Formats: sequence, C-alpha cells, structure tokens
Amino acid sequence: MKKIAVFASGSGSNFQAIIDVVKSGELEADIAILVCDKPDAYAVRRANSARIPTFAFSPKEYSSKEAYESAILEKLASYGVEFIVLAGYMRLIGPTLLGEYAGRIVNIHPSLLPDFPGKDAIGQALAAKAEWSGVTIHYVDEGMDTGPIIVQERVRLSEKETRESLQKKIQNIEHKLYPSILQMLLTRGEVQHDEKARTY
Ligand code: GAR
Repeated sequence: MKKIAVFASGSGSNFQAIIDVVKSGELEADIAILVCDKPDAYAVRRANSARIPTFAFSPKEYSSKEAYESAILEKLASYGVEFIVLAGYMRLIGPTLLGEYAGRIVNIHPSLLPDFPGKDAIGQALAAKAEWSGVTIHYVDEGMDTGPIIVQERVRLSEKETRESLQKKIQNIEHKLYPSILQMLLTRGEVQHDEKARTY
C-alpha cells in the first residue's frame, strides 16, 4: 500500500473523507502523516482522533519557505511517504518539495480551473455571477493552481445561490471525487476513462 501524506490548513473535511475511505477499505493507502501549517486547525484534531501522526508547524518560526519545506521533507522521508495529497493546504508548494515529489503531488480546488484560482474560489464564482463552477483535481506544479488537470466535475449555480449552498454542493462533490480519483492514481497510476469523461 502506498504511503501518503495529506497536507491541510483548515477544517480538514476532505482529510476526514480520505480517513473514512481508508478505514472502509475503499481507498488502498496508508495515511502516514498529516502536514499542517496551522497548529490550531481542526484538521489536526481529526488526525489525533484517527491516531495519524502530525507535523504541525508555523511558517513564521522558520527563516524561509526553503527552511520549513526542508523540515517537511525530513518528516516525509522518515515516514517513507511516496505521494502527497493537498486537501485545503493554502500555501504554494516550493522548489524544495517539488524537487523531490514532482508528479507525485495532487491538489483539489473548488472551481473549474483555470477559472477562479487562489483563495476563496467560491466567493470569486459568486462575485462573478458565474453560471457554472465546480471542482478540479490536478497535479501540482510551481504555479498557483496551474498544474495539469486530472479531472473536473461541474455544478450549476442557481439564481439564489449563497456561499453556504454553493460550498455544500462543492464539498459533496469533493468528498466523493477525491477518494475515488486517489484510489485510481495510487493503485493504477492513472485515471480510468469513465472518470476522465467528467472532464469537459
Ligand atoms: C476545499 O474546498 C478545497 O478544495 C479548498 O479548500 C477547501 C478545504 O476544505 N482548496 C483550495 O482552495 C486550494 N486552492 P477542508 O479543509 O474542509 O477540506
């Protein structure tokens, strides 16, 4: 079973969805460690409840991105991590981590990239009065939500759409889509045709 690290910064509902499918056996992976850049984040509590080791750090306690990414790398190496899953990790991945894990880092983002990259993609879609938004899973490169797209699933915004309602629709998709795509990537190294067909 592949050893994975999950990176999160906030509530960690996607992290929880991944914990749940690993427990049920639907996702054949070993969550070796949670990496979190906010020691108070709820994601850390989820890791503790699931008895998953955590590396929680405050970036400002390091002299540079290179310094904290080197500390992360050391941790990942000590747990034998082979693959990195970003689940609401709100920092750009730098050359230190990319150098070691290029092609083995994926991210989930709550919009149809390249639309609405970066922070608050849901708010951006509402402000733009977009007719469609959705979820993108993609490989990570040095840019902000710019790497090669693996799959997308879309949702239509209603006229009465609120932040809460759109967030709920998006999270419902995320919590199903990420586990199923991870299972394909981790066990076959690719995504099957019927899943790719959701891309448009
Ligand atoms: C998720 O919606 C994820 O797509 C988004 O953060 C949320 C984290 O929620 N990620 C990004 O915006 C990355 N640019 P969670 O902590 O409840 O999983």
